[in-house]
Amino acid sequence: MTAAGPRLLEKLDGQPWDIEAYIRTGGYEAWKKYLAGMSREDVVNELKKSGLRGRGGAGFPTGIKWDKIIHHRTPEHYFVCNAGEHEPGTFKDRYLLKHHPHQLLEGCLIAAHTAQAKASFIYINHDYNEERKHLEQAMAQAKAKGLMGKNILGTGVDLEIELFTGMGSYVAGEETAMLESMQGRPAMPRQKPPFYPTDFGLYGKPTLVNNVETLCNIPRILHMGASWFTQVGTEKCPGTMLFSLSGAVTKPGVYELPMGTPLRTLIEECGGGVPGGRKVKAVFPGGPSFSMVTDDQLDLPMEFDALKKAGTGLGSAGVIVVDDATCMVAQTLKFSNFFKTESCGQCPPCRMGTNNLATLMTKIENGEGTQKDLDSLLQLCGFVKGTGYCTLVTGAAVLVQSSLKLFRHEFDEHIARKRCPYNSQMAAVAAGH
Ligand SMILES: Cc1cc2nc3c(=O)[nH]c(=O)nc-3n(C[C@H](O)[C@H](O)[C@H](O)COP(=O)(O)O)c2cc1C
Repeated sequence: MTAAGPRLLEKLDGQPWDIEAYIRTGGYEAWKKYLAGMSREDVVNELKKSGLRGRGGAGFPTGIKWDKIIHHRTPEHYFVCNAGEHEPGTFKDRYLLKHHPHQLLEGCLIAAHTAQAKASFIYINHDYNEERKHLEQAMAQAKAKGLMGKNILGTGVDLEIELFTGMGSYVAGEETAMLESMQGRPAMPRQKPPFYPTDFGLYGKPTLVNNVETLCNIPRILHMGASWFTQVGTEKCPGTMLFSLSGAVTKPGVYELPMGTPLRTLIEECGGGVPGGRKVKAVFPGGPSFSMVTDDQLDLPMEFDALKKAGTGLGSAGVIVVDDATCMVAQTLKFSNFFKTESCGQCPPCRMGTNNLATLMTKIENGEGTQKDLDSLLQLCGFVKGTGYCTLVTGAAVLVQSSLKLFRHEFDEHIARKRCPYNSQMAAVAAGH
């Protein structure tokens, strides 16, 4: 967790859904301040000043997104909090839903009110049962205190937030697929353009979509001020980030650190390093859709722009550590299978590409591959990258390209020896790496 300075999360003295515990840490102050006389423009300007960027994966500036919605000429608007979280190695939204439901709720109330939403929703992962219960309890308490529902705090403002159970797929977290599924259609991404739900969202109307963590930042920024928020992080990526740390570390978990903190600090100081005296072989700094980095890159600052410059990405900060006992072909195959299973099948290059990538990877891992298969893998990656209505297939290709670039010798060894030299596919899968 962060030491001194601004942070997203305050320790709560009570149950996570206990409204009094949240209020003791300054909870609902921002919402009250807003209702007492802040304008929507004031809120958007404060967000712009804060430089907050979306925590759902793309890092889009939140103030700019909110500005678009308040100035849209179509009057009917919607708001959706994206709590679909389904990427391997990402579990920070789950943590927030479970331990800080009021903070999310306050962020949602502020967002929905700013968007002047006709209806507002939290789209929640279908497996998050305990988290959902905490949220429901928090909502009941907020209603009882007059902070949501009808005539909020006597101001005449009416605002309800509904829970919508997610479709239980990775693609359903992509915002346009999520909106499609909320309209009762298959959870498949829409063709772009139009690029943004702020232009064409739920029922084709302007819709504000934000990630759970993004929304949890809003009450803190409005209550403490943008200049408080920018005290940590970097100039272009201010604030803190919640890192989901998993894989080969002694203490996996969710850690809040200033944006730009070196990857090494996260792994060694927070995660307690690699267990069993083993070494870091590779790290996925932003989940399986972005290129891996190796142990000589552990001083990379963990923020959107620095990672992009290094040829990878932060995504939603699902950091997966791989140790030197792991077969990288098996590790890559595991994620290739994930992409194959999760492709919604709508776009032919994704449907066929993810399937063929997984088939070739299986062949190589089983010792049945040839050098020609490696050429085919690379060719296929080049062919499918950038195609599709969402970035799933690009992620699947980047994964294989990155593995081949960094660990080509392991692929060659599987082919030369006609078997997995680690004999570790099942071990890696069982360990959940
Ligand atoms: C395949 C795929 C899955 C995604 N899953 C999620 C998700 O589970 N939660 C989320 O907030 N964003 C997810 N996103 C990103 C959303 O499309 C969108 O950018 C985000 O919800 C916007 O919120 P933000 O601006 O607050 O980051 C996903 C994107 C893709 C391409």
